[in-house]
Amino acid sequence: MSDYKGPERVLSGIQPSGGMHLGNYLGAIRKFVELQDRHDCFYCVVDMHAITVWQDPAKLREQTFHIAASFLAAGVDPKKAAIFHQSGVRAHAELAWIFNCVARLGWLDRMTQFKDKVGKDKERASVGLYTYPVLQAADILVYKATHVPVGEDQKQHLELSRDIAGKFNHDFDAPGFFPLPEPLIKGPGARVMSLRDGTAKMSKSDPSANACVYLSDDRDTIARKIKKAKTDPDALPSEVAGLEGRAEAANLVGIYGALSGKSDADVLAEFGGQGFGVFKPALAEMVAEKIGPIGDELRRLEADPDYVRGILCEGAQTASVVADKVVDEVKQAVGFVA
Ligand code: AMP
Ligand code: TRP
Repeated sequence: MSDYKGPERVLSGIQPSGGMHLGNYLGAIRKFVELQDRHDCFYCVVDMHAITVWQDPAKLREQTFHIAASFLAAGVDPKKAAIFHQSGVRAHAELAWIFNCVARLGWLDRMTQFKDKVGKDKERASVGLYTYPVLQAADILVYKATHVPVGEDQKQHLELSRDIAGKFNHDFDAPGFFPLPEPLIKGPGARVMSLRDGTAKMSKSDPSANACVYLSDDRDTIARKIKKAKTDPDALPSEVAGLEGRAEAANLVGIYGALSGKSDADVLAEFGGQGFGVFKPALAEMVAEKIGPIGDELRRLEADPDYVRGILCEGAQTASVVADKVVDEVKQAVGFVA
């Protein structure tokens, strides 16, 4: 429990390290849009996180525009939410250093995403990759954000952010200085799985281009990928319990439900007993109907990088006003000379 009494604020970040896919849309961006009407929102393209693994500089810049354009195309409104690039707000890096001195090695040693990313080759990983979750805590707390819309894979990083906030408040005898940020994970689409393997997360690092539906895919590509999606030979069950042990079927039903606003039970009430020969075309149509227009708008925005750059720079200025103030307060608490 934090004694934080400040306003509710929302922050989230997405890495510019690949194309935006259906998992990012359902797990994160769609929630960004829902939240912008009710809260003060900060949505950040986390380019400093991206360089924890090698990024080609020209590509990094292009991807940063792509993510920002995806936010806009999906309906994030720059008049309601600050859309910006992380490196455009210096306060993130400044607070991250201080948090590096608050977080404990033992906490970072437990981070499963780091272990998954480095595999057996820990010696060759960048130091930045190890301390990645500390920068993430700084992204959130530099705005004293109280709520963080993310997919399920970010749960552990959010726990670390809460631990850092709590330890800072305790060490500097400042109860309620930082809120303990809450992840907003629940809801359909919190964990969208690969179209090629129902047990693996849909991920931009998947080597198979057919594993993901990208927001930039045109309607024909969407239809082709759904048609090729891995399934089993059985018909869909009429009850949710029948999806047990059928990861691919469960994933496709989940995607249909998340996009149409129906529960899995409702989807099965409609399609139970039907084979994938019937369900896949219906799913392809649903995905094309919801994602197709976002792709059209995305292509239009990507053709106008100057416009997107303008949005990012304006957003960075708005965000800096809030973040600089928090960093000034932190420096005061830590004992730095003003
Ligand atoms: P990333 O693509 O890892 O940078 O993630 C950006 C955001 O999308 C984070 O909030 C993730 O939790 C979310 N996300 C990524 N992949 C998925 C997925 N397969 N299903 C649901 N959410 C996801
Ligand atoms: N680690 C997140 C991911 O890979 C991205 C991220 C960086 C983030 N900073 C954040 C998410 C702050 C939420 C809040 O998806």
